[in-house]
Amino acid sequence: MSIEQRLGVNIDHVATLRNARGGTYPDPLRAALMAEAAGADGITAHLREDRRHIRDADIDALIGGLRIPLNFEMAATAEMQAIALRHRPHAVCLVPEKRAERTTEGGLDVVADQDRLRDFIAPLVEAGCRVSLFVAAEEQQLQSSAEVGAAVVELHTGAYCDLHAAGNHLGADEELARITRSARFAAELGLEVHAGHGLSYETVSPIAALPEVAELNIGHFLIGESVFLGLGPAISEMRRLMQNARR
Ligand code: PXP
Repeated sequence: MSIEQRLGVNIDHVATLRNARGGTYPDPLRAALMAEAAGADGITAHLREDRRHIRDADIDALIGGLRIPLNFEMAATAEMQAIALRHRPHAVCLVPEKRAERTTEGGLDVVADQDRLRDFIAPLVEAGCRVSLFVAAEEQQLQSSAEVGAAVVELHTGAYCDLHAAGNHLGADEELARITRSARFAAELGLEVHAGHGLSYETVSPIAALPEVAELNIGHFLIGESVFLGLGPAISEMRRLMQNARR
């Protein structure tokens, strides 16, 4: 098994906290630099259409200030494509976006949107971005992701984490089995496999243990836990659990 597995730290909720008071504190770039110092392999930031957390100026600051790669999460809209093409981040992760949702609820429907996504992705790939599609653990979605030219799929772990939190261990195990099969299938298609959404110290180990999963992207739990432990120690503990799971 490959021991190396990257941890991308999502800093959106540092911006959520800043925006709650309307000022400049706490600064997402400062959090990103602390995450970098604590051993994060990348920073993930989602520029939403409504700019509810990360703002355009945050993306400028992250691009200018980070040494580790930026994973730019965005909806597949013309506005976001123009921003990505201007900045050319290391990675672009396409997610579905609904205004009323609290967080990204489901995966992209790549099957239904195949032609549009193929055209949307091509210029991003040409600009040198690694394009990732955030999808549910379903074979057809993975097949279509490979067909539209994505290099990476990020498997949505939200349902698994929600079932676990609800104490539905049978349901969580079934979802974990689907993620396990999907990770294998995606790797067979030649896709790099990432996973994320809702992961915590309690749920990370079985996902981190999947040999095909090259990267985890984790945000809300780490930012929450940093209130108690500090950001660096919260990240170090996550890293430790990931490494243990892969031994
Ligand atoms: N990956 C993707 C594609 C996401 O949309 C999100 C949430 O923004 C995450 C990972 C991180 O999820 P969480 O904040 O629940 O850890």
